[in-house]
Order: sequence, then structure tokens, then C-alpha cells
Amino acid sequence: MKILLLGGSSFLGRAYASQALTRGHQVTTFNRGRTAADLPGVEAVHGDRDAAEDLARLVEGRRWDAVVDTSAQQPAQAAATARLLRDRADHYTLISSVHAFADWPARAVDETSPLHPCPADTPPGQEFSAALKAGCERAVLEYFGADRALILNSGLLIGPYERGGRLPWWLERMARGGRVLAPGEPGRPMQLIDVRDFATFGLDLLTAGTTGRFLTTAPPGRITYGEFLAGCAEAAGGADVELVWAADKRLLAEGPDSVQPWSELPLWTPDVPESAGTWQVDTGRAEQAGLRCRPFAETARDTWEWLRRRGPAEDTEPDGRKRGRIVHGIEPAKERRLLDALA
Ligand SMILES: NC(=O)c1ccc[n+]([C@@H]2O[C@H](COP(=O)([O-])OP(=O)(O)OC[C@H]3O[C@@H](n4cnc5c(N)ncnc54)[C@H](OP(=O)(O)O)[C@@H]3O)[C@@H](O)[C@H]2O)c1
Repeated sequence: MKILLLGGSSFLGRAYASQALTRGHQVTTFNRGRTAADLPGVEAVHGDRDAAEDLARLVEGRRWDAVVDTSAQQPAQAAATARLLRDRADHYTLISSVHAFADWPARAVDETSPLHPCPADTPPGQEFSAALKAGCERAVLEYFGADRALILNSGLLIGPYERGGRLPWWLERMARGGRVLAPGEPGRPMQLIDVRDFATFGLDLLTAGTTGRFLTTAPPGRITYGEFLAGCAEAAGGADVELVWAADKRLLAEGPDSVQPWSELPLWTPDVPESAGTWQVDTGRAEQAGLRCRPFAETARDTWEWLRRRGPAEDTEPDGRKRGRIVHGIEPAKERRLLDALA
């Protein structure tokens, strides 16, 4: 098949590109050439999806069987490409997010859950908000119709080439060794999907011409925080890693050592009503359609191998920030103070 990847160079788009090439498809990628290098073997078109002239250059003399959009964040972006491509491609996969659902993360969601009320014609240049992906979905459906559009609502993605730096932060923390502050409770479930499993599933659906909506993440309860941290320690940690579990209440306690959920200790969601549904994304429909998720140990091992082998160019964003590392992970001194207080 001829496949156009909007994005296609970084993380999920890269995983799609890699597998599509392996399966023998012809792949065109479209991105600005800023975030990451395109894979050898793709037809790389560089341009900005916010620039009408760049999009016109992309479609000039080209046609595709399918489009996979891993870069739409604004409804206006999705509307512009869907409008332009409706007569130049047969099928449009939009990578949406669980953020599109009005109830998430407070409540469990499935394919029938209500979306945020963001319209398809929302003006461009909106500040990031969870609602925007719902507008992107409406824009794609408006131009491609329900019989040609596939909406994949992604949960949290992990794996090699991650730029968000959540799993990389934990792996690097384990590599430093010693006593490690472990948030919440070891038995609490979480849902993380390896980008490679996501891309396998997405390409299987695409090549079968499947349409509709699939919540795409690992099945609920497949892994717990305890298993996640043990897996990180196993992949990257020295023999001296000791997990010290701290209850949510202790970490959230007011004061200078209060810990920010999700970012200071990446992926930690406390057991509070506002985030009660974070890891309750129903994946039954995706599983029935063939979604398979590899063991977390494999993802942790491969991500750690990638972190160790990547070169300085791959390690740095154009603005000089370290790539793939959360800049606001907990300060080592703060972690030490909390560990001392827990001893
Ligand atoms: N990461 C997660 O955990 C997660 C969770 C839920 C949903 N999602 C969704 O999954 C999708 C993929 O995520 P990701 O983490 O793989 O994204 P990513 O690493 O940020 O990659 C984005 C891709 O889009 C390209 N791009 C960005 N802005 C562009 C523009 N204006 N014009 C042309 N190309 C542009 C980038 O290349 P250039 O910068 O070089 O242009 C890059 O290839 C996104 O839609 C995201 O919202 C991700």
C-alpha cells in the first residue's frame, strides 16, 4: 500500500514507519525535519502542516491508499489535511487520545463515552487543552466520513525513542541505584502501551480497511506500579536498588516537599477522585480486534538499550534541551529528604 504518515519521524510515527517499511509498504512522511531524522527508505517531504503552501507541495502529483495522522493537535490542522486529502487518499487514521473524552481521567471510559464539546472548526492556534483532540476527531469525520475514518484513542505511550521522558526518567533513576522513592501503592494498576504494539495494531486495522473507534492502550490491570518499578529496576538498576513506598497522602502533604503527581514522579497518579479513571480505559474492543501487548520487561529492556546507545545529536532538542528526559523530574535532594523522613 501507499501510506502517508503525517509526522512519521518521531516515536509513534517512527514505529509506524519502521513497521510499514518492513511489511513492504511505500511510505511517505511529512514533518518539518526538526524533531528527528526520517527513516531510510521513506519518501520524506519536509514542511509545516500549518502552512497551506507546504501542504499543497505535499499532495502535488501524489495519491495514497491510507493516511496516518500522528501530528494533529489542533482541529484546524486536522481539518486542513482531511479536506485536502479526502480525494487523494481512501482511508484516514487519526491518532487521538483518551484526552478527547470528557470523563477522562476522573471516570472509566469506553468507545461510547461522551467527547469534549470541541467543534471541528475551532480556530487555529489554541493553547493546549484536552478538548482539542475531540475537535480533531470531528474534523476528520467531517471530511472522510465514518466509513473511511479510523480513530485510535491512545493511552500513555512508552518504548524506544520516547521524547516525553517518563519511562526514561525511571530507568535513569534506577541506574543511579540506592533507595528509590516509590509513589502510592505497589498493587495499584496502570495502563501503558509500547509504541511498537500500537503501530502493529494500527497497521493491521489500516490494511484491513477497518473504520470506527478503538481505545488503544494496554488492558486494564495488566501491570501494577510495583511491577512497573520492578521492571525498570531489572532493566537498568544496579543490585542495590531498594524501593521505598510512600503513600499518596504523604507525598501530597502541603509544604516545600509536596510532590507533583505525574511530572515530579513520572506516571504517578494518586488515588483521588479527579484521576480515578486514569487507568480504567476499556480496551475490550481493541483486544477483540487483535491488539496484543508485549510484556513490560521487554519494553523496559529495549528502551534502556536505546537510551544507552543513542548519540549526542539524538539526545538534544533543537533548543538545546535534553531530549527524552523530563526536565522537571524530582530533584535528587528533595527525594533524599523525603526518603530520610520516611526512614
Ligand atoms: N506520547 C503519548 O504518550 C501520547 C498519548 C496519547 C496520545 N498521543 C498522541 O499520539 C500522537 C503521536 O505522539 P508522539 O509522542 O509520537 O509525538 P511526537 O514525538 O511529538 O511526534 C510528532 C511528529 O509530528 C511532526 N510534527 C509536529 N508538528 C508538526 C507540524 N506543524 N508540521 C508537520 N509535522 C509536524 C514531528 O516532526 P517535526 O517536529 O520535525 O515537524 C513528529 O514527526 C500525537 O498525536 C499525540 O497527541 C501521544
